[in-house]
Amino acid sequence: MKALEIRELGHTYHDGTAGLRGVTLSVEKGECMAILGPNGAGKTTLLKHLNALLLPTSGSVIVGGRESNKKNAATIRKKVGFLFQNPDDQVFSPTVLEDVMFGPINMGHSREDAKTMALDCLDSLGIVEVAERHPAHLSYGQKKKVALAGIIVMEPEILVMDEPLAGLDYSGQKGVKELIRKLNHEKGITVIFSTHLTERAAELSEHCAILNSGSLLTSGKTRELLTDPEILKRARLEPPVVTSLLLPLHPEKIPITPEEGAKLLADILRKRTNGTEKKSGRD
Ligand SMILES: Nc1ncnc2c1ncn2[C@@H]1O[C@H](COP(=O)(O)OP(=O)(O)OP(=O)(O)O)[C@@H](O)[C@H]1O
Ligand SMILES: [Mg+2]
Repeated sequence: MKALEIRELGHTYHDGTAGLRGVTLSVEKGECMAILGPNGAGKTTLLKHLNALLLPTSGSVIVGGRESNKKNAATIRKKVGFLFQNPDDQVFSPTVLEDVMFGPINMGHSREDAKTMALDCLDSLGIVEVAERHPAHLSYGQKKKVALAGIIVMEPEILVMDEPLAGLDYSGQKGVKELIRKLNHEKGITVIFSTHLTERAAELSEHCAILNSGSLLTSGKTRELLTDPEILKRARLEPPVVTSLLLPLHPEKIPITPEEGAKLLADILRKRTNGTEKKSGRD
Protein backbone atom coordinates (compact mmCIF):
# COMPACT_ATOMS: atom_id res chain seq x y z
CA MET A 1 0.00 0.00 0.00
CA LYS A 2 1.30 3.42 -0.91
CA ALA A 3 2.06 5.99 1.81
CA LEU A 4 2.45 8.69 -0.79
CA GLU A 5 2.54 9.29 -4.49
CA ILE A 6 4.26 12.08 -6.36
CA ARG A 7 3.06 12.52 -9.95
CA GLU A 8 4.89 14.69 -12.48
CA LEU A 9 5.61 17.17 -9.68
CA GLY A 10 6.98 20.51 -10.75
CA HIS A 11 7.73 23.54 -8.61
CA THR A 12 8.74 26.92 -9.94
CA TYR A 13 9.59 29.52 -7.28
CA HIS A 14 8.29 33.12 -7.47
CA ASP A 15 11.56 34.34 -8.99
CA GLY A 16 11.19 31.84 -11.84
CA THR A 17 13.73 29.28 -10.53
CA ALA A 18 12.71 25.71 -11.33
CA GLY A 19 13.11 23.82 -8.03
CA LEU A 20 11.57 20.59 -9.38
CA ARG A 21 10.73 19.39 -12.88
CA GLY A 22 8.31 16.51 -13.48
CA VAL A 23 9.24 14.23 -10.58
CA THR A 24 7.28 10.96 -10.33
CA LEU A 25 7.93 8.76 -7.31
CA SER A 26 5.99 6.65 -4.85
CA VAL A 27 6.78 5.46 -1.34
CA GLU A 28 5.26 2.32 0.16
CA LYS A 29 3.88 2.26 3.71
CA GLY A 30 6.60 1.27 6.20
CA GLU A 31 9.42 1.97 3.74
CA CYS A 32 12.53 4.00 4.55
CA MET A 33 13.54 6.04 1.50
CA ALA A 34 16.54 8.31 1.06
CA ILE A 35 16.34 11.31 -1.27
CA LEU A 36 19.88 11.70 -2.51
CA GLY A 37 21.39 14.53 -4.50
CA PRO A 38 24.06 17.24 -4.49
CA ASN A 39 23.46 20.81 -3.26
CA GLY A 40 20.65 22.52 -5.15
CA ALA A 41 19.30 19.24 -6.55
CA GLY A 42 15.79 19.93 -5.21
CA LYS A 43 15.76 17.70 -2.08
CA THR A 44 14.32 20.34 0.27
CA THR A 45 11.84 21.51 -2.37
CA LEU A 46 10.63 17.93 -2.81
CA LEU A 47 10.34 17.18 0.91
CA LYS A 48 8.44 20.41 1.62
CA HIS A 49 5.71 19.17 -0.74
CA LEU A 50 5.21 16.08 1.40
CA ASN A 51 3.54 17.98 4.23
CA ALA A 52 2.09 20.80 2.15
CA LEU A 53 4.67 23.40 3.20
CA LEU A 54 4.93 23.95 -0.54
CA LEU A 55 2.16 23.18 -3.01
CA PRO A 56 2.82 21.93 -6.56
CA THR A 57 2.95 24.46 -9.37
CA SER A 58 2.37 21.49 -11.70
CA GLY A 59 1.60 17.80 -11.16
CA SER A 60 0.32 16.45 -7.84
CA VAL A 61 1.24 14.93 -4.49
CA ILE A 62 -1.07 12.40 -2.83
CA VAL A 63 -0.49 11.70 0.87
CA GLY A 64 -2.45 8.85 2.44
CA GLY A 65 -4.95 9.03 -0.42
CA ARG A 66 -5.46 12.82 -0.16
CA GLU A 67 -4.23 15.30 -2.71
CA SER A 68 -1.99 17.98 -1.25
CA ASN A 69 -3.76 21.33 -1.63
CA LYS A 70 -4.83 24.26 0.60
CA LYS A 71 -7.97 22.44 1.72
CA ASN A 72 -6.19 19.23 2.78
CA ALA A 73 -3.03 20.86 4.16
CA ALA A 74 -4.04 20.67 7.86
CA THR A 75 -5.07 16.97 7.60
CA ILE A 76 -1.86 16.10 5.78
CA ARG A 77 0.26 17.87 8.43
CA LYS A 78 -1.32 15.67 11.12
CA LYS A 79 -0.08 12.57 9.28
CA VAL A 80 3.34 13.88 8.30
CA GLY A 81 5.99 15.05 10.76
CA PHE A 82 8.53 17.34 9.12
CA LEU A 83 12.07 18.02 10.35
CA PHE A 84 13.50 21.20 8.81
CA GLN A 85 17.05 21.26 7.48
CA ASN A 86 17.73 24.21 9.80
CA PRO A 87 16.42 23.74 13.38
CA ASP A 88 16.10 27.53 13.83
CA ASP A 89 13.09 27.29 11.48
CA GLN A 90 11.38 24.88 13.88
CA VAL A 91 12.18 25.57 17.52
CA PHE A 92 10.59 28.71 18.97
CA SER A 93 9.15 28.27 22.51
CA PRO A 94 10.73 29.88 25.60
CA THR A 95 11.94 26.51 26.94
CA VAL A 96 12.83 23.21 25.29
CA LEU A 97 10.20 21.39 27.35
CA GLU A 98 7.45 23.84 26.29
CA ASP A 99 8.57 23.44 22.70
CA VAL A 100 8.23 19.65 22.73
CA MET A 101 4.96 19.83 24.71
CA PHE A 102 3.43 22.21 22.13
CA GLY A 103 2.34 19.47 19.70
CA PRO A 104 0.71 17.10 22.24
CA ILE A 105 -1.14 20.02 23.93
CA ASN A 106 -2.40 21.13 20.50
CA MET A 107 -3.65 17.59 19.94
CA GLY A 108 -5.74 17.82 23.13
CA HIS A 109 -3.47 16.09 25.68
CA SER A 110 -3.43 17.47 29.25
CA ARG A 111 -0.35 19.49 30.28
CA GLU A 112 0.67 16.68 32.63
CA ASP A 113 0.49 14.01 29.89
CA ALA A 114 2.21 16.28 27.40
CA LYS A 115 5.04 16.85 29.89
CA THR A 116 5.55 13.11 30.43
CA MET A 117 5.52 12.48 26.66
CA ALA A 118 7.96 15.35 26.02
CA LEU A 119 10.38 14.25 28.75
CA ASP A 120 10.34 10.65 27.42
CA CYS A 121 11.20 11.89 23.94
CA LEU A 122 13.97 14.18 25.16
CA ASP A 123 15.32 11.26 27.18
CA SER A 124 15.29 8.92 24.15
CA LEU A 125 17.37 11.52 22.30
CA GLY A 126 19.79 11.90 25.24
CA ILE A 127 19.01 15.60 25.86
CA VAL A 128 16.66 15.56 28.83
CA GLU A 129 19.14 17.76 30.75
CA VAL A 130 18.39 20.73 28.46
CA ALA A 131 14.61 20.56 29.13
CA GLU A 132 14.44 23.87 31.04
CA ARG A 133 16.82 25.81 28.79
CA HIS A 134 15.96 28.39 26.14
CA PRO A 135 16.21 26.73 22.68
CA ALA A 136 17.97 29.77 21.20
CA HIS A 137 20.91 29.24 23.56
CA LEU A 138 21.52 25.63 22.58
CA SER A 139 24.19 24.34 20.20
CA TYR A 140 23.16 23.51 16.61
CA GLY A 141 23.20 19.75 17.29
CA GLN A 142 21.18 20.13 20.50
CA LYS A 143 18.61 22.29 18.67
CA LYS A 144 18.33 19.70 15.90
CA LYS A 145 17.56 17.01 18.48
CA VAL A 146 14.97 19.26 20.18
CA ALA A 147 13.30 19.80 16.79
CA LEU A 148 13.29 16.03 16.22
CA ALA A 149 11.84 15.42 19.69
CA GLY A 150 9.02 17.89 18.88
CA ILE A 151 8.11 15.75 15.86
CA ILE A 152 8.47 12.21 17.14
CA VAL A 153 6.45 13.07 20.26
CA MET A 154 3.46 13.32 17.88
CA GLU A 155 4.03 9.77 16.56
CA PRO A 156 3.37 10.73 12.92
CA GLU A 157 2.46 8.06 10.34
CA ILE A 158 5.06 9.49 7.99
CA LEU A 159 8.32 11.08 9.11
CA VAL A 160 9.99 13.43 6.63
CA MET A 161 13.45 14.65 7.60
CA ASP A 162 15.56 17.14 5.71
CA GLU A 163 19.24 16.26 6.33
CA PRO A 164 18.54 14.76 9.80
CA LEU A 165 22.19 13.90 10.50
CA ALA A 166 23.88 17.04 9.21
CA GLY A 167 25.71 18.97 11.93
CA LEU A 168 25.53 16.18 14.53
CA ASP A 169 28.64 14.71 16.18
CA TYR A 170 29.48 10.98 16.17
CA SER A 171 27.28 10.03 19.12
CA GLY A 172 24.48 12.34 17.96
CA GLN A 173 24.47 10.68 14.53
CA LYS A 174 24.60 7.22 16.08
CA GLY A 175 21.64 8.03 18.36
CA VAL A 176 19.52 9.55 15.58
CA LYS A 177 20.31 6.64 13.22
CA GLU A 178 19.22 4.16 15.92
CA LEU A 179 16.06 6.18 16.50
CA ILE A 180 15.23 6.26 12.77
CA ARG A 181 15.69 2.47 12.55
CA LYS A 182 13.55 1.93 15.65
CA LEU A 183 10.72 4.18 14.42
CA ASN A 184 10.82 2.52 11.00
CA HIS A 185 11.35 -1.14 11.96
CA GLU A 186 9.49 -1.38 15.28
CA LYS A 187 6.75 1.26 14.95
CA GLY A 188 6.30 0.84 11.19
CA ILE A 189 6.56 4.60 10.55
CA THR A 190 7.26 5.47 6.92
CA VAL A 191 10.50 7.45 6.78
CA ILE A 192 11.73 9.74 4.01
CA PHE A 193 14.96 11.66 4.53
CA SER A 194 17.30 13.70 2.41
CA THR A 195 21.07 13.55 2.29
CA HIS A 196 23.91 14.38 -0.06
CA LEU A 197 26.01 11.53 1.40
CA THR A 198 25.68 8.08 -0.17
CA GLU A 199 26.94 6.57 3.12
CA ARG A 200 23.79 7.74 4.91
CA ALA A 201 21.51 6.20 2.29
CA ALA A 202 23.50 2.93 2.42
CA GLU A 203 23.27 2.70 6.20
CA LEU A 204 19.61 3.56 6.61
CA SER A 205 17.48 2.99 3.55
CA GLU A 206 16.69 0.03 1.35
CA HIS A 207 15.38 2.34 -1.37
CA CYS A 208 16.52 5.67 -2.63
CA ALA A 209 15.66 8.31 -5.18
CA ILE A 210 18.40 10.37 -6.81
CA LEU A 211 17.70 13.98 -7.77
CA ASN A 212 19.81 16.19 -9.99
CA SER A 213 19.01 19.75 -11.13
CA GLY A 214 15.39 19.37 -10.00
CA SER A 215 14.78 16.17 -11.96
CA LEU A 216 14.56 12.58 -10.76
CA LEU A 217 17.58 10.81 -12.19
CA THR A 218 16.45 7.38 -11.01
CA SER A 219 14.96 5.53 -8.05
CA GLY A 220 15.23 1.95 -6.82
CA LYS A 221 17.17 -0.30 -4.46
CA THR A 222 19.91 1.65 -2.69
CA ARG A 223 22.41 -1.18 -3.21
CA GLU A 224 21.87 -1.30 -6.97
CA LEU A 225 22.06 2.47 -7.44
CA LEU A 226 25.11 3.05 -5.22
CA THR A 227 27.15 0.38 -6.94
CA ASP A 228 26.45 1.75 -10.44
CA PRO A 229 29.38 4.06 -11.32
CA GLU A 230 27.55 5.52 -14.33
CA ILE A 231 24.55 6.62 -12.24
CA LEU A 232 26.77 8.09 -9.51
CA LYS A 233 28.76 10.04 -12.07
CA ARG A 234 25.63 11.46 -13.68
CA ALA A 235 24.26 12.35 -10.23
CA ARG A 236 27.54 14.02 -9.17
CA LEU A 237 27.66 11.76 -6.09
CA GLU A 238 30.57 9.84 -4.58
CA PRO A 239 30.05 6.17 -3.68
CA PRO A 240 30.45 5.24 0.01
CA VAL A 241 34.18 5.17 0.92
CA VAL A 242 33.99 1.46 1.75
CA THR A 243 32.55 0.76 -1.73
CA SER A 244 35.36 2.64 -3.51
CA LEU A 245 38.01 0.92 -1.39
CA LEU A 246 36.80 -2.66 -1.70
CA LEU A 247 35.23 -2.73 -5.17
CA PRO A 248 38.50 -3.74 -6.87
CA LEU A 249 39.01 -6.58 -4.37
CA HIS A 250 35.67 -8.27 -4.96
CA PRO A 251 33.65 -6.80 -7.85
CA GLU A 252 30.97 -9.53 -7.61
CA LYS A 253 30.04 -8.76 -4.00
CA ILE A 254 30.31 -5.03 -3.48
CA PRO A 255 29.93 -3.75 0.11
CA ILE A 256 28.06 -0.49 0.73
CA THR A 257 28.30 -0.25 4.54
CA PRO A 258 31.31 -0.51 6.92
CA GLU A 259 29.82 -3.69 8.44
CA GLU A 260 29.59 -5.36 5.02
CA GLY A 261 33.13 -4.19 4.22
CA ALA A 262 34.51 -5.65 7.46
CA LYS A 263 32.78 -8.98 6.78
CA LEU A 264 34.09 -9.13 3.22
CA LEU A 265 37.66 -8.40 4.35
CA ALA A 266 37.42 -11.04 7.11
CA ASP A 267 36.15 -13.62 4.55
CA ILE A 268 38.96 -12.82 2.10
CA LEU A 269 41.62 -13.00 4.85
CA ARG A 270 40.18 -16.27 6.19
CA LYS A 271 40.27 -17.86 2.72
CA ARG A 272 43.84 -16.65 2.15
CA THR A 273 44.99 -17.95 5.57
CA ASN A 274 43.32 -21.34 4.95
CA GLY A 275 44.98 -21.52 1.52
CA THR A 276 48.40 -20.74 2.98
CA GLU A 277 47.95 -23.32 5.76
CA LYS A 278 46.94 -26.05 3.29
CA LYS A 279 49.86 -25.17 1.05
CA SER A 280 52.39 -25.24 3.90
CA GLY A 281 50.84 -28.55 5.11
CA ARG A 282 51.58 -30.14 1.72
CA ASP A 283 55.20 -28.89 1.57
N1 LIG B 1 12.72 30.21 -1.92
C1 LIG B 1 13.34 29.99 -3.08
N2 LIG B 1 13.26 30.88 -4.09
C2 LIG B 1 13.88 30.68 -5.27
N3 LIG B 1 14.63 29.58 -5.57
C3 LIG B 1 14.76 28.67 -4.58
C4 LIG B 1 14.14 28.82 -3.30
N4 LIG B 1 14.46 27.74 -2.53
C5 LIG B 1 15.23 26.96 -3.31
N5 LIG B 1 15.42 27.49 -4.54
C6 LIG B 1 16.17 26.93 -5.67
O1 LIG B 1 15.61 25.67 -6.00
C7 LIG B 1 16.64 24.73 -6.33
C8 LIG B 1 16.55 23.52 -5.40
O2 LIG B 1 16.85 23.97 -4.07
P1 LIG B 1 16.73 23.01 -2.82
O3 LIG B 1 16.88 23.86 -1.60
O4 LIG B 1 15.50 22.22 -2.95
O5 LIG B 1 18.00 22.06 -3.02
P2 LIG B 1 18.63 20.96 -2.03
O6 LIG B 1 18.83 19.72 -2.83
O7 LIG B 1 17.81 20.86 -0.82
O8 LIG B 1 20.06 21.60 -1.72
P3 LIG B 1 20.97 21.50 -0.37
O9 LIG B 1 21.73 20.21 -0.43
O10 LIG B 1 21.90 22.68 -0.52
O11 LIG B 1 20.08 21.62 0.83
C9 LIG B 1 17.95 25.49 -6.22
O12 LIG B 1 18.31 25.95 -7.50
C10 LIG B 1 17.62 26.65 -5.30
O13 LIG B 1 18.44 27.76 -5.59
MG1 LIG C 1 18.18 21.22 1.18
